[in-house]
Formats: sequence, structure tokens, C-alpha cells
Amino acid sequence: MAKAIEFISVCKDFNGKGIVHDLNLSIEKGNLVTLIGPSGCGKTTTLKMINRLIEPTSGTISVHGVDISRIDPVELRREIGYVIQQIGLFPHLTIEENISLVPRMKGQRKDVCVKRAYELLDVMGMDPAVFASRYPKELSGGQQQRVGVARALAADPEIILMDEPFSALDPISREQLQDEIAKLQAELQKTIVFVTHDMDEALKIADQIVLMQHGKIIQQDVPEQILRHPKNDFVRQFVGEKRFAQAATRATIEDAIVQAVTVRPHRGIAECIQLMRTRRVNGLIVTDRSGRYLGVVDAMRVLGSFADEGATAATVMDASVPVIQPGTDVAPVIALLQADGHGFLPVVDGEERLLGAVTRGSVLKLMTPTGGEVHEDAAMASV
Ligand SMILES: Nc1ncnc2c1ncn2[C@@H]1O[C@H](COP(=O)(O)OP(=O)(O)O)[C@@H](O)[C@H]1O
Ligand SMILES: [Mg+2]
Repeated sequence: MAKAIEFISVCKDFNGKGIVHDLNLSIEKGNLVTLIGPSGCGKTTTLKMINRLIEPTSGTISVHGVDISRIDPVELRREIGYVIQQIGLFPHLTIEENISLVPRMKGQRKDVCVKRAYELLDVMGMDPAVFASRYPKELSGGQQQRVGVARALAADPEIILMDEPFSALDPISREQLQDEIAKLQAELQKTIVFVTHDMDEALKIADQIVLMQHGKIIQQDVPEQILRHPKNDFVRQFVGEKRFAQAATRATIEDAIVQAVTVRPHRGIAECIQLMRTRRVNGLIVTDRSGRYLGVVDAMRVLGSFADEGATAATVMDASVPVIQPGTDVAPVIALLQADGHGFLPVVDGEERLLGAVTRGSVLKLMTPTGGEVHEDAAMASV
């Protein structure tokens, strides 16, 4: 694969203090690579060396196979898009003029630039008819950041550098822009180097994640491998214990058992509905007098038989639901929950006595044990 950017033994000192140490990094064309690590670990310094805003103390950086120390910095920067947190739009220029600035400097015709600016606003989800003639101060932070991305794309650079571009935004704008970037990159096949300190952001958008600490690369890999095989404690901590890939392999199903709302078989349908309503569950588990499991009644079954005056829990229940026993591995339980439409499964002991239930929500929580946010679908409330 063609290399878009290559660092060979790059070091950077500031005032004699080593900040980036012997960095070797290869970025393939068309990849979105995130540089991630704690504050001060050298991410910004590394990024700025790519467009020569910072010069390395030693080593070589190549862009598309050319040693950049031999390219005029101003020329280089025109070929590389750059988006930072404080986007720095020119306040006295309209949005269209801000986006067209670099192409105009490169001598492109005005009408071509205007057309392109309109297209890019559209790509970024902003109506050109509304926004093109506005000034930056008339835009929200999220909108300004979108314009910043549009501006970086305007000269159609092969490479775009982004330094925590979304970190000052509210969570919703941030999510939206992350989606836009991932989509853009898939469509346009740009090489994007994206600095962040947010692992969720990196995992969401990256083809490759480069984890840095104290000016060194600790691990470079695809998100899946970073999650599954963090190289050391630092990576493990950075990825966070809450990630499910690792948690799932340690978890046992016992921890996912929740209390079940039970009903006796002779109870009528109206009683079942009343019980589901007051206990806020979408299903009931039918047990006999001694607590033995008999079947499952879910809201749909109940509603479907409501017209039948004589229907009871026993007559509408589904007795074919697979039951699970404590000690079962998590993986087959997930498969069963996927295959079974009720969203929950009864857990029974060796004598078929009901111990509780596992739900999609309770299993998901199990995989994010340190309180990772799991938004339970209301329809999966514990039973
Ligand atoms: N121009 C500079 N002069 C001196 N020290 C600097 C300069 N730029 C960055 N540093 C230092 O280099 C280290 C790495 O900075 P930076 O690359 O901005 O980290 P990050 O982006 O990962 O937070 C920090 O300790 C910072 O203080
Ligand atoms: Mg930084």
C-alpha cells in the first residue's frame, strides 16, 4: 500500500528537552489514523511536524514519498488541510469566502470556488442558501467547526490534519461531526490524521489508532485489536476497563441475573396486563406453587388474546423458551437472547425452580461493569 505519511526516526526537542523520541510511524493512503494519548504526550507536536509548523530536531518525514524538508512550507500547507479546535475563521469574511480562501490563493476562478463552497456546505449538512453569505459570528460553535472542515476540504487536499477539532463542542454536535468525518473519509478516501484524547472518539472513527505516551508510540493497531489485545497496563487503562471485549470474557452470567416478575398459571389476562403495568415490565414468567418454571408470557401474546375471556397465563404462555442455568457462559446466552424474541430468558436451577431472569439490558451491563453508559431500551426492562 502506498504510504501517505512516513516518520523515520523523528525526534523533537524543545529547549534541549526531548518531547518526541525516535518516532517511526507509517500512515497509509486513504486511512483515518487517530493519534491518542494523555495531554502533553506530544500529539500536537507530532501533527505539526507533518505540515512543518514545527521542524523535527532529527529524522525524516515524507509525504507521498517526498522528504518534506525539501518542500516549501507554504506550498506544503496548501496541499494539506488543517483543522484545529479554535477554528480561526476570518471574522470579516463570509462563510463562502472563508471556505474559498485557499483555492482563491491558488488562483482558481471565483465562480468555480463559490460553486465548490456551496457543495461543501451541503456535504457538511449546512444549507448554502442560508449560510454562505453569513459571517462566522452568526454561527454556533458546531456550525463554525463544520465550516472549518469544509474549508480544509476546499482545496481538495489528499491529506487532512485535525487537532482535537471537536473537543470544544457539545456531545450531540460532536457525535454528528464524527459521523460526518467517517462518512467523508469513506467517500473521498482522504488520508486523515486526527488527534484526540478521547478513546470513544478514536474507536468510533479510526482505521488505525496510534497510542502515544511520553513522546513515544506505545501501540499502533486497528481498533478491534486495541480493544482485544491492549499491549500493556497503560493501554488497558486508556482503553478503560469498561470496554466490553475484555469484560465479556471474564464475566459470568450470574452477575446478569435480575429479579423476575412472576405470575401463577391460573391468573387471567387482565391480571397479567395489570401486573406488567404496575411492575413496568414487558413480560412475566409463569411459575407453579412451588416456584417451578412453566413458561413465559409477554405483552404481545397477552394483548393478542385479550378478546378471549377465558384466557389465562397458562393458556397464552410460551413454554418453548430456552431456559438457562447459572454457570452458563455469556456467549451462548447472548446468542439465545438474539434468537429469542422476548428479550429475556428465565434462569432456573437443577430442579427447574426459577432463580430470576437475564435480559438484553442486564447482559449488556455485565459487559460494561464500571458503569459504562448502556441505554436500555424501555422494552427490555428487567422482568
Ligand atoms: N513551542 C514549545 N516550546 C516548548 N515546549 C513545548 C512547545 N510546544 C510543546 N511543548 C511541550 O511539549 C510537550 C508536548 O506538547 P504537545 O505536543 O502539545 O502535547 P499534546 O498535544 O499531546 O497535549 C508538552 O510538555 C509541551 O509543554
Ligand atoms: Mg495537543
